[in-house]
Amino acid sequence: MSSATSTEEHPPAVEAREDQPLLGKPGGATQGEGVGIHHNLVTGSAIVAQAGIWILVALVWSAIFSKNLVFFSAHPLLNSSAVLVQVQAILTLQPTHTPKQKTLGTRVHFGLHALSNLAFIAALVVVEISKDKYPRFTSPHAVLGLITYICIVLQVLVGVVQYFFPAQILGSVERGKTIYKYHRMSGYALLVLELATICAATQTFYNVAILHIKLWAVLIASILVVLGVAARIKKRKLGF
Ligand code: HEM
Repeated sequence: MSSATSTEEHPPAVEAREDQPLLGKPGGATQGEGVGIHHNLVTGSAIVAQAGIWILVALVWSAIFSKNLVFFSAHPLLNSSAVLVQVQAILTLQPTHTPKQKTLGTRVHFGLHALSNLAFIAALVVVEISKDKYPRFTSPHAVLGLITYICIVLQVLVGVVQYFFPAQILGSVERGKTIYKYHRMSGYALLVLELATICAATQTFYNVAILHIKLWAVLIASILVVLGVAARIKKRKLGF
């Protein structure tokens, strides 16, 4: 293997210098050799994303538990938890770069997404049971939520096909790999869509009348998540 290829596949660990930004350069969070994968959850701007998502979950959970719990309470609790787990799935994988790190990272990423998707499905079942005979998909939140659910299903299908069944369904492993960058791009777009759906949830009658979760607070938390995650995107992994 030539030294050029080696540098490309194994970028040297970035050493911190005094004149470097505190959270590192954009896309600079790289998992070091022999460093545990759990470190990826807090390296570089992951701290900003973690602050945002935990604030968001705290806003939803504190509003729910400060009122009487009803069957429907599970919908916001499960959906906000699902997004929390998805953010962890993204943060885990972003800094991986060696084949070994990528393999482990992808397994953890898949496991976390499987968990979060179970929570998403359960949340949908809860809201649909709660709706009973009431009209469905009438509010902007409900419509955005439905679009989000459809996108989640498509994202999962593409992810599973490209990684687990590329040869059987796409014809070759190489073809599967050409899709990776689109899966990454749509994954980031999906995260923004999920956050927008939660922002829209603050405008539902139930929230305005009972929960009182503030839109501005959810917006600030969402912006922190987007900034923290976006700053760790490695343009090379998106094909740029
Ligand atoms: C990414 C996260 C979320 C998704 C994908 C989502 C999805 C949905 C969907 C699809 C519906 C419509 C069901 C129907 O009309 O048959 C709905 C309803 C509802 N959701 Fe969410 N939801 C999310 C998070 C939240 C959160 C955090 C809250 C907390 C405030 C919330 C509160 C509500 C309320 C009050 C309704 C009933 C009113 C309505 O239909 O507009 N949701 N959600």
